[in-house]
Amino acid sequence: MPEIGSERSRVDGQLKVRGAATYAADFVLPGMAFAVIVGSTVGKGRITGFETRDASGQPGVLQVLTHLNTPKLPYLPFRTPIDPQVGERLHVLQDDQVKFFGQPVAVVVAETLQAAEHAAGLVTVRYDTAEAVTDLDKPGLPLVTPTGGDYTRGDPVAALASAPVKVDGAYRIAREHHNPMELHATIAQWEGDKLTLWDKTQGVLSTANEITAVFGLPAGSVHVVSPFVGGAFGSALRAWPHVTLAALAARQTGRPVKLVLSRKQMYSGTGYRAANRQRFAVGADRDGRITVMVHESIAETSAYEQHTEAFSELARFLYTSPNVQTTYRLAELDVNTPTYMRGPGRAQAAFAIESGLDDLAYELAMDPIELRLRNEPDRDQFNGLPFSTRRLRECYEIGAAKFGWSRRKPQVRSTRDGHWLVGVGTATACYHTIRNNAQALARVKVDGTAVVASATSDMGPGTYTAMCQVAADSLGIEMGKIQFLLGDSTLPPSPSHGGSQTMASVGSAVREACESLRDTVVRMAVTDPASPLYGLDPHQVQVRNGRLEASGKSDSYREVLRRRNRDAVEVTAQWGPGDTPRQFSSYAYGAVFAEVGVDETLGLVRIRRLLGVYDAGRVINPKLARSQGVGGLIGGIGMALLENTVTDHRDGRLVNASMADYLVPVNADVPAVDVLFLDGHDDKASPIGAKGLGEITIVGVAPAIANAVYHATGKRVRELPITLDKLL
Ligand code: MOS
Repeated sequence: MPEIGSERSRVDGQLKVRGAATYAADFVLPGMAFAVIVGSTVGKGRITGFETRDASGQPGVLQVLTHLNTPKLPYLPFRTPIDPQVGERLHVLQDDQVKFFGQPVAVVVAETLQAAEHAAGLVTVRYDTAEAVTDLDKPGLPLVTPTGGDYTRGDPVAALASAPVKVDGAYRIAREHHNPMELHATIAQWEGDKLTLWDKTQGVLSTANEITAVFGLPAGSVHVVSPFVGGAFGSALRAWPHVTLAALAARQTGRPVKLVLSRKQMYSGTGYRAANRQRFAVGADRDGRITVMVHESIAETSAYEQHTEAFSELARFLYTSPNVQTTYRLAELDVNTPTYMRGPGRAQAAFAIESGLDDLAYELAMDPIELRLRNEPDRDQFNGLPFSTRRLRECYEIGAAKFGWSRRKPQVRSTRDGHWLVGVGTATACYHTIRNNAQALARVKVDGTAVVASATSDMGPGTYTAMCQVAADSLGIEMGKIQFLLGDSTLPPSPSHGGSQTMASVGSAVREACESLRDTVVRMAVTDPASPLYGLDPHQVQVRNGRLEASGKSDSYREVLRRRNRDAVEVTAQWGPGDTPRQFSSYAYGAVFAEVGVDETLGLVRIRRLLGVYDAGRVINPKLARSQGVGGLIGGIGMALLENTVTDHRDGRLVNASMADYLVPVNADVPAVDVLFLDGHDDKASPIGAKGLGEITIVGVAPAIANAVYHATGKRVRELPITLDKLL
């Protein structure tokens, strides 16, 4: 039985449930001190002075760092692939400027966390306060156009004016925060000019490279260790200011320093999904053939960095349309920089596009699935490329049958269950198949075990496990004898663990390294006169369970290495997508189905059923994939009904910066949710056939729920989250 495609439990599962997995803040170093950040209490302005004497005088306090006593850091010009293309990362404790509420303005370092926290509360900061603009709806906000912001195909203005059937809607999505269970944390230790960081990160290399540039160190000076990440989905793609602060505090005190953001500090100390406004207009002929789509997006960013996302991608190619216009604008507010959050750009765009298509289906009196299938393109109309695979039709057909879509009554408000109005809705999910160059090392040892390694990360989807499965099949060694190493910047370089690219990119590199290692050992056997396989054609040799077999004879990894007196044999290999992204349009697709109940009197929305059916290429581990899918759907419930970071626009403070006040779905909000992956293999997307299945599972959930709410109530809500006040 091949390991790929098998349901395997997480190889690190026991470590996690026993509390033995070491997350960043779990490391304990001798002599470790503790740092606590003091955040600004104004949203914009200039620091005019500090009162730090009380804090400094407390027992155990080592230092109180402010911009007045902190050396200037080089901050060499440097961008990770994740960093915004325009702007400059926050330079922390470098001057008197306050750019957003909660910006770090001082750091207290002490012998204990308690002493540092107490002293941090005693630091007083004086400000010359300016007006902070934090409201995306403030009239007359200047908007900037990011690079590549606009796109036009055909004549969208004329086409919309003349479309026989059209709908035009304005959509709003609240700011959302990732809220991973694990707090962001960094431990920093200097040995001379060498720095080691134990950090929560999705990119050990990008963090190492960034901190190297911030401190102006020679290449290779920063070592980042991050074996476990307790959730992130974008929040740990960048090294936020606290990583620099931990390193700075360690350097200034000459001690290893641990810095953990509080839950409240997570809201201003990391990124978030930007609040956004969209317009989506779609026109069609009376047969439901789309003639035009106009999609306009506006999102918030900070005043110091232009964070951009692929808002405009879906409208350009998802459905056939001769006329398309997309525009994208940013409002530079006095806020910290937003970042990617699960399904970045597409999750937001799909809310507008898929709600608009639902409206159009009602205008046409056509089934919403039929409308989508009528507009299936035969190629990517944005770049003219053929699809590597596109099985959206199957997702809808299989999903509709499983969900019982045919029982749906077309009229709104047509189904009741006691005091609940019941409705069903559907929406398309889609996410780009991202691939980048990756390297992996594979080493087989004389005891028959193997180690495979790459500088990737595992924020929860099961990278450790799935990579062991890929390695097991390629090496022909039992999975239990393979150890996968990740989360260390000294391992062979890989892209950051984001954008659903890890399996296609790192998985392909692992396969490459393991096959090359297997072939090396096979060649060692057939050229060794002492081997039973001596003289045989290496291509005839089959390798499984650690044994090399051909023509009824057999050898083993152990014996081959033992005879050659080798402790181990190892190979490092690189994989890259090469030209494929310019030859094929590769996306994962899905169809999401939702059934909701809406309490007619109270406006309460309850999810009754959710189903996602996905075309994500080859599924390496159905158990992990299902878990990813369920997580994505639950994240989608949050986006649709609950999540909303609320800002007090008088000073830019976030008023619900806690897990008590920022609502995420809990068990009572989540009914049985179901996930199905089509049996697939897209070898044009990646050699292992995977397209990626993490990001896509949140895309389409919010519009499927909004469409179900419309079907239940006849009320179209174009603003997320859909709270009860919008339904009364
Ligand atoms: Mo993902 S939003 O790239 O972690």
